[in-house]
Amino acid sequence: MSRKVLVVDDEAGIRAALSQLLEYEGYEVRQAANAVDALAEYARFGPDLVFMDVKMAGIDGLEALKRLREQDPRAVVVMISGHGTIQTAVEATQLGAYDFFEKPLDTDRILVTLRNALQHLELRDEVRTLREQVKSRFEIVGASYAIKALTDRIEKVAGTPARVLITGENGTGKELVARAIHNQSPRAKKPLVEVNCAAIPSELIESELFGHLKGSFTGAVSDRAGKFEQADGGTLFLDEIGDMSPSAQAKVLRVLQDGVVTRIGGSRTISVDVRVLAATNKNLEDEIAAGRFREDLYYRLNVVPLHVPPLRERREDIPLLVAHFVAQLTEREGVTPRAFEPDAVALLSRMEWPGNVRELRNTVERLLILANGSRVTVQDVERLVGRASAEPSALGALGTIRTFEEFKDAAERAFLLSKLREFDWNVSETARALDMPRSNLYKKIERYALVREA
Ligand SMILES: Nc1ncnc2c1ncn2[C@@H]1O[C@H](COP(=O)(O)OP(=O)(O)OP(=O)(O)O)[C@@H](O)[C@H]1O
Ligand SMILES: [Mg+2]
Repeated sequence: MSRKVLVVDDEAGIRAALSQLLEYEGYEVRQAANAVDALAEYARFGPDLVFMDVKMAGIDGLEALKRLREQDPRAVVVMISGHGTIQTAVEATQLGAYDFFEKPLDTDRILVTLRNALQHLELRDEVRTLREQVKSRFEIVGASYAIKALTDRIEKVAGTPARVLITGENGTGKELVARAIHNQSPRAKKPLVEVNCAAIPSELIESELFGHLKGSFTGAVSDRAGKFEQADGGTLFLDEIGDMSPSAQAKVLRVLQDGVVTRIGGSRTISVDVRVLAATNKNLEDEIAAGRFREDLYYRLNVVPLHVPPLRERREDIPLLVAHFVAQLTEREGVTPRAFEPDAVALLSRMEWPGNVRELRNTVERLLILANGSRVTVQDVERLVGRASAEPSALGALGTIRTFEEFKDAAERAFLLSKLREFDWNVSETARALDMPRSNLYKKIERYALVREA
């Protein structure tokens, strides 16, 4: 697709010369002889760049520039002047002109400017796409009570310097939560440095976190700053903190207490200003009881706990997540856009999802790639999604139920349990949603021995 340029000048000779040059270089060119025509032509033609004469009869170039930028704040305009004074150039720049030329026009300079301007445009578009991608990649999607409560807490905690411990099963979105906290915090412009404590061998984790001096151990070929130093002014995200070795735990505790790090092999202390976020899919209280995690570190990290509930406890989010992933995945080359039929989404919403949101995302991708027709149907889901993840009957094994009374009890129990989960075990909210007195709901909770899962 050739790039489009609009040439605006009241001198026919200049218009013709410039147009000829640009057309010869492969640009698509249109002309306008005055400001009014230029504004109209701009709207019709949608050029990538405008060359505009400053001195024109009627509305002059500077005024036209101003109006054009009002019409499209992203317009890229290069001004041309017969008698360019510094003053006009300054004024044009203030009005948002991309560049400024003087007559007589120098062909080479025009072409160079044009190329630069177009490159600038491409970069701008690229940055915008990337920014949108990043935004959608890090957006926390969901309308369930649990997700709303979570995003509320994220908003509250983001502005504070408090440490946050994010817990939840695999694939529930813990990393996403950490990014959201950082991005909404006053540290957003500073780095978010991530350390996956489970992926780094225990003998390297300390050097990774605190850095080292050259020669302090075999392989330390030069001085190196650790992640704490790299995150100075920003946020350090300690992922899979439950897998950190005891000696690293002791050192992290010291940094959290004193706000200083010492590189391995060094003696100088370096003070760091770092906000620490941590995440784990382990139950750290169990790890403490088993002697694998330091209790004092746990209390330091767990100033604000954030729990990300498993997907099966917020099934209302599944249709939204499916739509989100379809949009996200089909933006990528090679993935055919296909709509999911409502039945197919309903079936996905009933499944168990032990791998949580990550598993759902992978499944949506698989369905988009492997489905046959233009739409993903319930048959595609049955055919392509492993039976293993299909939810067993919500009532448990129906075979063990003998009487109608037992069946009704089992049904009521399952129903209440699912509603309590939906409202994150907020009994008042659940009672209100069910239009049932709270005391009544408490009685039923007791009667059916309903307990919140860990
Ligand atoms: N609420 C959500 N909205 C949109 N995308 C989500 C949501 N939750 C998770 N995801 C996506 O699911 C995938 C897994 O999320 P993430 O990596 O944050 O999970 P995790 O809890 O850190 O998993 P693990 O314990 O395995 O490290 C990512 O692609 C993430 O973007
Ligand atoms: Mg993670």
